[in-house]
Order: sequence, then C-alpha cells, then structure tokens
Amino acid sequence: MLSVEEIRRQFPILHRQVRKGVPLIYLDSAATSQKPLQVIETMQRFYQLMNANIHRGVHTLAEESTAAYEKAREKIASFIGASSTKEVIFTRNTTEAINLVAYSWGRKFLQPGDVIILTEMEHHSNLVPWQILSSEKGIRLEFIPVQEDFLLDLDVYRRLLELRPKLVAFTHMSNVLGTINPAKDMIRLAHEAGALTLIDGAQSVPHFAVNVRDLDVDFMAFSGHKMCGPTGIGVLYGKQELLEKMPPFLGGGDMIKKVLLRDFVPNTLPHKFEAGTPAIAEAIGLGAAVDFLQEIGMDWVLAHEQEITAYGLERLSEIPGLKIFGPDASHKGGVISFTMQGVHPHDVAQILDQDGIAVRAGHHCAMPLHEKFHIPATTRASFYLYSRKEEVDLLVAGLEKILTIFG
Ligand code: ALA
Repeated sequence: MLSVEEIRRQFPILHRQVRKGVPLIYLDSAATSQKPLQVIETMQRFYQLMNANIHRGVHTLAEESTAAYEKAREKIASFIGASSTKEVIFTRNTTEAINLVAYSWGRKFLQPGDVIILTEMEHHSNLVPWQILSSEKGIRLEFIPVQEDFLLDLDVYRRLLELRPKLVAFTHMSNVLGTINPAKDMIRLAHEAGALTLIDGAQSVPHFAVNVRDLDVDFMAFSGHKMCGPTGIGVLYGKQELLEKMPPFLGGGDMIKKVLLRDFVPNTLPHKFEAGTPAIAEAIGLGAAVDFLQEIGMDWVLAHEQEITAYGLERLSEIPGLKIFGPDASHKGGVISFTMQGVHPHDVAQILDQDGIAVRAGHHCAMPLHEKFHIPATTRASFYLYSRKEEVDLLVAGLEKILTIFG
C-alpha cells in the first residue's frame, strides 16, 4: 500500500511554488486532476518513439500506435466493466459523449411529446444537449428536484416515471454538492418504467469503482482529464445493442467502411463513432492513467477521499458565517462548495490564491442549481488521491484570515 507522500512524488506539479514562493495547495481536482509521471512519460514516449496515424498505415510505427490506442481501449473497458471494447467510444470529453447520445440516439428514436427526465443538479453538459433536442423535436423535459438535504427527491422521481419517459439522464455525483446519487436503484426504477438511462460519470469514475454491468446503465459518459489522464480525451460507454442501432454522429475518415459519391456505409463499432484522426496520444495517456489508478486501487482512492472530505466538513463547519452546500459525508464525494457571509466567492478564491491555495469559484457550470439556492456562485474545494489533511488545515487558516480582513 502506497502512502499519500509516495503518491505525491508521482505528481511533479504538486511540488512547485506559486505567487511569492508559497507551495501550491491544489484543491481544484473536480475541475481537472493533476497528472502523474506515468501518464506524462507514456505520452512523451509515444511522441518520441511511436507517433503515427492509426488504422491506416502498414508500416511499423502505424502498427505500433494502432495497437497502443486499441490497448488503451481494452484497459478502459476492463476498468469500467464493459462487456466488450465495442462499447467504449473515445470522445473529447464527457460533454461530447452526452452530445453524441443526444444527436444520434435522440434524433433517431425520439418523437415529439416524448419525455426525458433529468435532475436539478445537472452540469450544463447534461442539460443543454437535451434542451437543444427538446426545442428541435418537441421533447418534454422533466426534473427530479433537489431536496433541502441536497439529495434527490426520489418520491417525485417515482411519480415522474409514471409519464413513461424514454430516457433518464443524471449525474452520478454532483460537481457542486458532491452528492452521490443512488444510481443502481434509479436505473432499476427507470428500466421498470421502460426508460433507457444515461449517467454523467465525470465526477464518479475518477473517484470510486464504477461498474457499468453491475449498474446495468445503458450509457455512461466520463472525461480522462479528471482521472489523472490528459485533456482532449473522454469516453462514451454504451450497451452494444443500442450503439449498433444508432446512426453515426460525426462523418469523415475512420467511421466508414465504404464511401460512394452520394452515400456511405458506416464502419463497425466502436469506429462508427470515431470520425477523423482521434486523440491518439491522449487515449494512450488515459490508458496509463487507468493503470496508475488500478495499481493504487479505487477502494483506496475512495477511502482516502472520504477521510479528507469528512475532515474538511468538520473543519469548515467551525468557521462562522460559512455555509456548506452539500449533504453529510455519508452521501458525498470529495467536493465542498460553500459561501461566506459578506464575501463574494470570487474574492474568497482570489485571496486564497495569494497563499497558494487553488480553489474554484463560480457557478461550476451548474447555473440552475445555484439559482435554486438563490446564490450566484459558490467557492469549491475539491480533493483527490493526492490531497492531504494538512491542506485542509491551510484552507481553514486561509478562510479565517479572510474573516479577519472582512471583519
Ligand atoms: N466540470 C468541471 C468542474 O466542475 C469543469 O469544475
């Protein structure tokens, strides 16, 4: 078992100084995680030794890079428990993966008046694609409310299911509240009502073991850059029988079997949904990130973050005038969003930055959720496998300093 200090040695950026020579305290992993040497070096080796386009050439480099790209897909399929690599589509990120489902599945299979159920705690990437579809095709959107305790109102969910929705799409873990939704039960209920399901796994897949077969989810989207991998690479998981029936999303190279002047025959899965030269180095980098997380073990990652989050909730609740938006530690992943009475969240983030503490302030791409709570913004601290309790202490000291500045 590795210690946090050993893990931190893998992340060169965590040892740099910022501002006036203060050590970096990185508490913004929900926005993007830092990258371990294993990922950085894998991508560097790819460009130094192997770089070539994939699925096209017969030369050595093309064969090696194609094999490395497809090996990364195998690692990801096994990491999330997919039945086959045909079910793992590389996209740019979670947003693109959800858009793929909305454009391809939504446009082909939905009719005016069909219902899609979402929740009030969605990130914009799981709202706007469905809003676009709704205005184009007359789809009805319904929302599971967020309760006072920051959990979803599952009684209302059960009632909404009586509308016989075609899809229930929800975040596995809120990027603002940290709420971990009871995905398995919600998916079972959706299936009993005849609906398909999509989960936004952007904040869950990096932080705890997520198995698509155990969840029985139909689609799942997640991003590489929040799980120690590079930016520019994400994944859409879809059940094979659904992906087979869906038309291509983007057209171009690699997604075709045959092209005539006026028509084309699409490629087989998963290539049908990967038009153009993909993010090859990034996919291989994500494969290295999966190796890294598996060596540490997702159970360790979860337990470590639970400990830091529980400690963070306890310490932050000592600060007068600080209000935490999110459920208790037993329902929560490693993000703590809060407001401080009389201080704008952006000012909080800016003052903390003077002490090297990196947090995010704003609506975190979840404007409707902030509107529900009648606040324009929150400040958010978010943790990962390299976070330390000492960093929580420094955050608390920084917030206490802000209290004295603002009286
Ligand atoms: N979705 C990312 C966040 O919550 C960018 O910060």
